[in-house]
Amino acid sequence: MIPQSFIQDLLNRVDIVDVVGRYVPMKKGGANFMGLCPFHNEKSPSFTVSPTKQFYHCFGCGAHGTAIGFLIEYSGLGFVEAVKDLAQGVGMVVPESDDKMPPAQRAEHQAKSLALTEAMTRACDYYRLELRTAERAKNYLIGRGLTGEIAARFGIGYSPDGWDSLRTVFPDYDASALVEAGLVIDRTDEEGSNRKRYDRFRDRIMFPIRNTKGQVIGFGGRILDNGEPKYLNSPETPLFQKGNELYGLFEARQAIRDAGYVLVTEGYMDVVALAQLGFPQVVATLGTACTATHVQKLSRQTDHVIFSFDGDRAGRKAARRALEASLPYAADNKTIKFLFLPSEHDPDSYVREHGTAGFEQQVQDAMPLSQFLLKEVAGDNDLSTSEGRAKVQFDAKPLLQAMPASSLRLQIVRGLAQLTQGTPTEIESLFELSNPVGRSRAAPPRSKRTPPVGLELQVMRLLVAHPALAMELDDDALKAMVHFVPDNAAMLTQLVSAGRQMGEHASFATLSEHLRASGQDFDSMIAEIAAEPESDRDTARLELAGAVRQTKMKVLKAEQERLAAGGMKQPEELMRYRELSLKQEQLRREAEDEIARR
Ligand code: GTP
Ligand code: MN
Repeated sequence: MIPQSFIQDLLNRVDIVDVVGRYVPMKKGGANFMGLCPFHNEKSPSFTVSPTKQFYHCFGCGAHGTAIGFLIEYSGLGFVEAVKDLAQGVGMVVPESDDKMPPAQRAEHQAKSLALTEAMTRACDYYRLELRTAERAKNYLIGRGLTGEIAARFGIGYSPDGWDSLRTVFPDYDASALVEAGLVIDRTDEEGSNRKRYDRFRDRIMFPIRNTKGQVIGFGGRILDNGEPKYLNSPETPLFQKGNELYGLFEARQAIRDAGYVLVTEGYMDVVALAQLGFPQVVATLGTACTATHVQKLSRQTDHVIFSFDGDRAGRKAARRALEASLPYAADNKTIKFLFLPSEHDPDSYVREHGTAGFEQQVQDAMPLSQFLLKEVAGDNDLSTSEGRAKVQFDAKPLLQAMPASSLRLQIVRGLAQLTQGTPTEIESLFELSNPVGRSRAAPPRSKRTPPVGLELQVMRLLVAHPALAMELDDDALKAMVHFVPDNAAMLTQLVSAGRQMGEHASFATLSEHLRASGQDFDSMIAEIAAEPESDRDTARLELAGAVRQTKMKVLKAEQERLAAGGMKQPEELMRYRELSLKQEQLRREAEDEIARR
């Protein structure tokens, strides 16, 4: 569980306009930003983002939520992933799974990761320096056609051929950070006593792997001759997870924006060679299959992704994995394409043999996702038989189900219908695709209780829109209200306690995230508030005070009625009746004062 306080800090730190703006082109319109809704198809914009509420709302389809909610709906991320994603963008570290990591421990944690980054940077500088004097390594790079300029741009280096060369830059060669960073390896002998430590990378060309902030988090080391393994990568460390990182992304970011697309290859050398020969918008997976995290990272940089694969079997298999990883991100405003090179080539060898123009042509001819998907499911099936056509549909089902509802999906459904002699409607119902809108519009099951009305509804809405007001609500007022609305007492007390718990910085956005986990159905109320113009807190405060007074008044009146109905035979009862009248009078005066003050 991520602590609520962290969610609150996070939502106060990020700007939903930035977050949504990364995916949806928007224009300022009055107090809000407007654009075409990414959750349903429309021609004129009804999607709004409010910077003051830190909330989005679509007047067309009713989609709404916070920055966190947006990422969940838009990218298909889980809650925790969405929080992590946003946190990373604003430089916050999500507290680890256990809710209550003491601050001291968290500080230690961060100090440790700082030590790892420092060790990586120092090693990287060292390897680069070593390359200057390593003639054999330089000749290798020259032999592969690389210029010194490109080697410098990618920080390419050389790890010398010794067991403990790193000792020269790490006087404390025994430091634990060196193992944790994956720079050295510890081996104990049979008795387990005599610890021997040695450099992981020896006599290799070193490719530093940087994260999106430019920090060195790992290395790929290529052997200079034909030995094994050809490439040695850093192990998984707290800084480096292969399935999350892309080689060259940091270096390529501006070029990706300029070119309007990113090209994803399979190798370090492909990235470096293409960058040198006019394609700086290139990245590579790190010897692993393409993951959904990869695609997500890329789709944050650009709307157009082209994957390149060798034309051989292995390449096709890798392409299939990339297709599967891409499907959740295949929206109408994105294009994802697949480039298959002739089987004897990888991008590096292709561009060197056929030149920049030749490679450019390959990029132009890349196969769109829709076409590749249909080709994949058609496979070797015999489309002239019912069995063959059924198998195609069977294979296509999970792929189409992984796609968000979009007109692209519909296009593919049409293509599949044609291929398998069906109709799009048949396929949509067979694949359970008929529900054309995303999760956000699936109305949550309503409980049996009567929905709040009148005064109680007004109070709840005020507390949702301005949760900080809960701190100003005295317990008497709360008691009076709970007394009157036993049906919705649970909802009301929950709102009040949430607002009080969150304190002064509670906002509509933070509260609605808080309520997401609560199980109570506040969604329709949240949607209504999201659709309204912003109300200011002072007005809301007055309204709340008014509603509280009215409720108290009702309670007092009800008691008087009970007394009157009983005949008021006891003198105490009469006294109480008068007292209740006085209290009402007092409330009335308060209200008048307030109106006078306005
Ligand atoms: P060059 O032969 O230098 O052109 O490399 P390449 O980039 O063409 O590499 P290749 O197509 O052989 O492999 C693609 C990617 O897979 C490499 O960039 C590495 O990330 C990874 N890889 C290749 N060989 C090995 C290996 O032996 N071990 C590991 N761990 N990864 C490898
Ligand atoms: Mn190669």
